[in-house]
Amino acid sequence: LSLNITEALCIHQPVLVMAARSSGNVMWRSSCLLPGRVAAVCSRGAGSVSSASEPLSSLQDKPRTLEDLPRVTLWELLYRMTFQGFHNRMHELQIYEKKLYGPIYRGATNHICVNTPQLLAEVLRNDNKLPSRGDMAVWKEYRDMRGFGYGLFTENGEKWYNFRAVLNKRMLHPRDSAQYCDTLNDVVTDFIKRMCYLRQGSPTGDLVPDIANEFYRFSLEAIASILLETRLGCLEKEIPKGTQEFINSISKMFSYNFIVTLMPKWSRSLLPYWGHYIAGWDGIFNFGEMEVLQQRLDDNQDVEGQYLAYLLSNTQMSMKDVYGNISELLLAGVDTTSNTLTWTLHLLSKNPQAQDRLYEEVSALVPADRIPSAEEVTRMQYLRAVIKESLRMYPVVPINARVVTDKDVTIGGYQFPKNTAFTFSHYAISHDEDVFPESFTFKPERWLRDGRIRPNAFGAIPFGFGVRGCVGRRVAELEMYLALFRLIRQFEIKPDPTVGELKCINRTVLVPDKPLSLHFVDRGGENAA
Ligand code: HEM
Repeated sequence: LSLNITEALCIHQPVLVMAARSSGNVMWRSSCLLPGRVAAVCSRGAGSVSSASEPLSSLQDKPRTLEDLPRVTLWELLYRMTFQGFHNRMHELQIYEKKLYGPIYRGATNHICVNTPQLLAEVLRNDNKLPSRGDMAVWKEYRDMRGFGYGLFTENGEKWYNFRAVLNKRMLHPRDSAQYCDTLNDVVTDFIKRMCYLRQGSPTGDLVPDIANEFYRFSLEAIASILLETRLGCLEKEIPKGTQEFINSISKMFSYNFIVTLMPKWSRSLLPYWGHYIAGWDGIFNFGEMEVLQQRLDDNQDVEGQYLAYLLSNTQMSMKDVYGNISELLLAGVDTTSNTLTWTLHLLSKNPQAQDRLYEEVSALVPADRIPSAEEVTRMQYLRAVIKESLRMYPVVPINARVVTDKDVTIGGYQFPKNTAFTFSHYAISHDEDVFPESFTFKPERWLRDGRIRPNAFGAIPFGFGVRGCVGRRVAELEMYLALFRLIRQFEIKPDPTVGELKCINRTVLVPDKPLSLHFVDRGGENAA
């Protein structure tokens, strides 16, 4: 099995990694026997190490190497995945391994796992002008096979930098995303209408079944309306056939992506997984709307609208590059926002006090007969805190990576050669009691700027970091704020007792383990449509 760590890291997908021989936990335990301050840090236990205020590097006299690190074996990983049932709970495996091995250890295929905010900061501060999450070989392979271009996810180096320079200009800053506010508000209006339609058809008159599926439709409609400047019809009673096929293709590609990264190439002609994987990608790239776009590109026609028109008018990008980037933006922009909104509503339904406080803010700041502007929602402290706290508890991207390509680095007192891959256990970090007391409790107020001590900035970085951080962040935030604002203003969200306990599983992103239905009780106001 020759798995490159970053091959397993597809868009917003948790890394599932294979490991080699271990000498690991022995080392972690023995490092606790070190004299002096290191021992003092270690004696607080693996989980607590994260809260040490000084980087470990400053505590050790002589830097050690990666050979000294605790290490997970392939067999341990396989055992944990199969017999201990972590295969779809890889985020929980982060916490489990943190307890076993401590703040830094050697995971599968020699990548280095770090799971404290301090170590995360140490690694990320090594980002240079061209940071890399690694080489997404299987994604590139498809594009090379079919002659398609790469996008922000698959590209690295100078070419990535040039893409970013162009794409950033209309996305990165809040004032950039504000220009999509009207478009997004139209989609939110249709979404609210759909909620009304669904709840009316339910036996209780207010129940919406499978809200994650509804948010998926909403997010796809929203991102397509920005990128493709077209309405796909996802919020109509019946989804148009081509759009449904596109959705199925995304799901197919993601389902087989992991197996493709795991299996040796020779098995591709013997087993069906490769064909399914390619069919998934074909469905994505053959999406009718994309074809229309391609046609317009081929014919050198003018394309009306905002984002796409901007990309097309940019002389630095070829049409192939535009196409490659639009596909990756579309892919990145759906599961992420939809699942975050799902978790947010779930949390609010379970925490009526937080929901009441949010309702107060929402109803106080914008008159009921008006649809909020981008500027208004981004000023709402509690609304922002609710989303931030939901992303802390359910970071849709629970793991991320960096490959330090240009130099040797010392992290946590260990020396690593150039090209070492580091993975970040974001889920474990954002559930560390030392960083976030009562870490499994929903407390949006911990993010308020009201004089309280704010959590460590690296404790929850759901959109990543620095120049390689999420390019869609501002659009995603605006989309989520506008949707949440209107939903909470119109409805009181209540749990459906028949759902029972909702757990979270890893499937591309962190998703609920069963369909979540919620009661949308009309608040009875005369709200703007
Ligand atoms: C809740 C919503 C979202 C979350 C939590 C999220 C999270 C992330 C994270 C963690 C990364 C990796 C950053 C890093 O390595 O430092 C990333 C990258 C990226 N995201 Fe998002 N994302 C979200 C929504 C979106 C949306 C709506 C879009 C598209 C409009 C998007 C497009 C991208 C792209 C293209 C990259 C790759 C950037 C690069 O490599 O230069 N994301 N996102």
